[in-house]
Parts: sequence; C-alpha cells; structure tokens
Amino acid sequence: MTNTAQRVQEYAAHSFHTWSRQKGWKTPLLVNDAEGVYFYDHTGKAYIDFSSQLMCSNLGHKNKAVIEAIVKQAEKLPYIVPSFANEATMAAVEALRTVMPKGLDKFFFSTSGTEANEAAVKMVRQACTPAYKVISRYKSYHGSTAASISLTGDPRRWYAEQARFTIPGVCFAPDSHCYRCPFELAYPQCGVQCGKYLDYMIREEGNVAAIIVEPIVGTNGRLIPPPEYYPMLRRICDEHKVLLIADEVMSGWFRTGTAFAIEHWGVTPDFITTAKGASAAYTPVAVTATSERVAQFFEEEVFCHGHTYAFHPLSAAAIPAAISELKKVMASGLPQRVSAHLKQRLYALAEKHICVGDVRGIGHFWALELVKNRKTREPFDVKADKFSTKALMAGRVAGDAMQRGVYISPWYDTLVIAPPLIITEEQVDEALAVLDKSLEIADTEAVDTGTAVCHSTEYQK
Ligand SMILES: Cc1ncc(COP(=O)(O)O)c(C=O)c1O
Repeated sequence: MTNTAQRVQEYAAHSFHTWSRQKGWKTPLLVNDAEGVYFYDHTGKAYIDFSSQLMCSNLGHKNKAVIEAIVKQAEKLPYIVPSFANEATMAAVEALRTVMPKGLDKFFFSTSGTEANEAAVKMVRQACTPAYKVISRYKSYHGSTAASISLTGDPRRWYAEQARFTIPGVCFAPDSHCYRCPFELAYPQCGVQCGKYLDYMIREEGNVAAIIVEPIVGTNGRLIPPPEYYPMLRRICDEHKVLLIADEVMSGWFRTGTAFAIEHWGVTPDFITTAKGASAAYTPVAVTATSERVAQFFEEEVFCHGHTYAFHPLSAAAIPAAISELKKVMASGLPQRVSAHLKQRLYALAEKHICVGDVRGIGHFWALELVKNRKTREPFDVKADKFSTKALMAGRVAGDAMQRGVYISPWYDTLVIAPPLIITEEQVDEALAVLDKSLEIADTEAVDTGTAVCHSTEYQK
C-alpha cells in the first residue's frame, strides 16, 4: 500500500463520516484540487461537479475574487469578538441588503444552515409566546442540531428521535408534491388542498407560532408548489398571526434563477434563513434574516443568542465577494441560457430512459426521480430504505456516473442535478452523456410502461 493510501485509511479510521455507519467508510476519495466546474482526485482524474458539492458551490471552484477577499481578511483581521463592528461584517450586511427581499433587513450571522434555523426558531418562540409550535413538512431537511432536526421531515430525524434529541412542539403538514400528492388529487382541480390544509392545522393545533418551508424543497425532491401555494400560506399566516420562515439554505443564491426561491411567488416571508451559497461555500457562514416586526420585538427584549464565531470576519468576508460575483454571472446571461438547455436535455433523457418517472426543477436545481414503473409510479426505494443496508438505485446510478467522471449527489429516490451557475452548455452535455449511460443500470430493472411526467415551472406560467 502506498503512503498516501495508508494516510487516507488512517484518516477514515480516525474521523466520523457524516450520516453513515462508519464501517462503510474506509477509503474515501482523496480530492486534491478543484477549478471551475471540475474537481480532481489525487491521481489527477477530473470529475464534473454536477451537484455543486452539497448544492453549495454556486460559483464553482477557485473563484479568484472570493479567494482574494478571504485572503485579505485573513491578513488583516481574521477574528474579533462579535460585539465589535469590523469592515468585513459591515460590508457583508451592506451586500446582503442589496439582494434580500425588501423588508428583510436585520441579520444574525452564524456558520451553518442548521444554526441559521436554530436562531430563527428561538426568535420565533420568544417573539410569539405563548404560541410555540412550528409547522414543518414531511419532505424537508432543516439541519442536524436539536431544533432543526426536529423540523426535518426526512429520515435523519428518526435517529435524532431515537437519541431523544428533538424539541417538542413541531407538527408536520402534508407536502406540496404534485407527482405524489398526499391527497391523491391533481392540480388545478385540487384547489391547492396542500395549502388549504395549513389553515385547518393551525386552527386545530392551537399555539402555532410559525410555519417553516423550503420554498423549493431541496434534498427531498426539488418540489415546486403551484402558483397559488405561497400567497395562500402568506394569507393564512397573516390571518392567524403566524410567522413564515423560508429556509433558503439550499434554494437561495440564484440556484433557481432568482436570488431567493420564494421570489418566484412574489411573497415575503418573516424570516429567510440561508447559508451554503451565501459565501458560495468558500467559508462557513450562515444568515438569519428577519423582518421589521421581528427586529422591533428585540428592541426591548433580550436577543438571548450568540456564539464565539457569530459574525466571524473571515467567514463574512466571502459574502460581499460572492454576491458581487453571483450578480456578474447572472448578468452575463449564461445561467439563464444553460438552465433552458439543461431542462430540455433532462426532458429528453426522461423520454429515453424508462426508469425516469419525473423530471422537475427550475434554474440549476433539478430532480430526476427514478421509478420501477412509470405507470404506477412504483419507486425503487422509499424513505425507510435510506438508512438500510440495501444498495439504493439512485446511489448505484450516481456511483456509476462517478466512476465515469461525473459527481451527482443521490437521495433515496432522486438524483440531484444542481451544477454550479458557471457551467456551460458543453459541460452540461458532457455530464449528461455520462448520466445517459449510467441510467441504463436502472432501466434494466424498470418495467417498460407509461411515460415520464416532466414538469418544472410550466404550471407557474
Ligand atoms: C434546506 C436546508 N436547510 C438547512 C440545511 C442545513 O445546513 P448545514 O448543513 O449548513 O447545517 C440544509 C443542508 O443541506 C438544507 O438543505
């Protein structure tokens, strides 16, 4: 065994691999470099980053402007206590105010998406006392720490529950999921029952303080609700004096074409929580953005929250640079052109491959849902399979693509197609040529019947 291989094995043996049984993680890929939409393993083999790592490297790798901003800050003032002002956090707040929806203009900085949500929930509960319940949805992920994992609908919550690591007062609403409608209805005849039901829930539950949504659900499906959904939720929240939290940790930062996904519905939430693309993943930074109403509450009340690395200057230094670079990329017209191309190419893949049940998404944020049978929509794998020892079909397809040089993040039922916003049409074609091959693995175990459902924002128009 080479020295490098041995060091990798020792690294794996002495580190906890996230969300996994440790015995399955013995020889992780050693990545040594990354540039643009590619990253490179230690042998020099290139991989197209077709999921922006964890849907966070929105600018791709080695963006010079962001790197320079971080280096300059590291040389000048890497750390200072959060109670002092400094140029980095001031510039970050100024930059945030240029992209956040109007009305969301007071911010708390932390270092991860889960912390952004923890802060929001704590603020909600303080501001809405005696109401304290938070409604979330089953198809969701909000983070790993106590409050955020309690709000999470996906199976990662089950383990936190077994560890007695959840907070009380969280209820789950039905998803807005047209391909697998929990009410078994079809839009538009459904009358957007998934939205209406929230009104029923709030009345019946009592003590509801907030609703948290991923405006376009990320990991759990890239689910795009119909046009009426968020205006309806906003109305329901206002009627019941319930706050609306938009978790834009993944859907924010132009991933869906607009700075934040909720903007597609013309709705302003009371909170936006975000991380990932806020620094384009160059530094760990997260933001809890609040409305005037929430900000006002804490004028007299104690904002009883903080941590050593809150408003960390080095983390914050990446924000203005990332925002400026993201704006430039969007102004170039490239993402708009490439997302139209990507959509058309994904729809074509779905026509060709019988294992693709649904293609849905917008911008650079897409899901291919894999099914055994397109007519009955029978899935290969379900939620309960996620942490089983079974080899899941999405993982098998993604594993094959990886061998062929394309990195695609799999979930239990979908593939996450979410490349950096700088990807070109040619690079999309390069990645999809590989995916075209890898999908054959699933085709061989699928039944040839029915056609794929392909929808993105069509029903938004
Ligand atoms: C919608 C959403 N919220 C919160 C989080 C948690 O963010 P982090 O992993 O930075 O704690 C994630 C992570 O994927 C996410 O997708």
